[in-house]
Amino acid sequence: MMMTHDPHWRKSVLHGDSRTIIKQLPDHSIDFILTDPPYNLGLHSTGNIPLPGRADMNNDVAEWDKVEFCPEEWADDFIRVLKPSGNLFIFTSYNHIGRWYNCLDKRFDTSNFIVWHKTNPAPKIYKAGFLNSCEMIFTCWNKRHTWNFISQSEMHNFLESPICMPPERLKSPKHPTQKPTSILKKMIRIASNEDDIIFDPFMGVGSVGVAALELGRRYIGVEIDRTYYDAAYNRINHTLQRIQETQK
Ligand SMILES: C[S@@+](CC[C@H](N)C(=O)[O-])C[C@H]1O[C@@H](n2cnc3c(N)ncnc32)[C@H](O)[C@@H]1O
Repeated sequence: MMMTHDPHWRKSVLHGDSRTIIKQLPDHSIDFILTDPPYNLGLHSTGNIPLPGRADMNNDVAEWDKVEFCPEEWADDFIRVLKPSGNLFIFTSYNHIGRWYNCLDKRFDTSNFIVWHKTNPAPKIYKAGFLNSCEMIFTCWNKRHTWNFISQSEMHNFLESPICMPPERLKSPKHPTQKPTSILKKMIRIASNEDDIIFDPFMGVGSVGVAALELGRRYIGVEIDRTYYDAAYNRINHTLQRIQETQK
């Protein structure tokens, strides 16, 4: 399926259920799993908020987020495919972070987290709570993992950027949780080296793939939704073509 033994192979962008596809990955074949799985926030939501004269405020994230997601079902395969020197970074939410911790912490030497602070979150219209301006990324690794420490001031476990905005933000399809490549690139620079293989089993519109290829890494991504998959496929192919043209 994946031509990872071919020196010219740079990426595999796959359509399907990554729960099945991950089984085809060999043991210890991945340098860095950087992924953004469903959060199941809709299960805790009070529903979308109607706004006069405007589209509803989307509290429910998306239909794909309502499908029950069980971190425990992924832990064994994540560990199996990861190289001993590999890193595992997972975007997650308050309701899942403890579950990721429970199933991964005892299997790794170190677990930790990063906070991504979004500088332009949706306002809290009725002023009855905090703005949802932070997202967590659960991280884990073993001793002698790949690590490119930048500098003391650059290595706080805190990232800051706006949410993904146009022109980077795709208009069609609009993915409600498209990540900005700036924050992904910082994590990729730190936790992997050039030519390393980065795996994203929940790729959405392919943001990790774009960031990985732009930094000279190789990439495997999987998406279950056909429309998002097509967008990711096109986006990642254009990125690779652009890179290859500048190298001519
Ligand atoms: C949080 S979004 C990822 C967004 C992505 N980071 C981006 O920037 O576009 C999670 C994605 O996982 C996909 N998904 C959910 N279950 C899946 C599965 N079993 N296999 C593959 N993709 C899945 C959803 O369709 C959704 O697009």
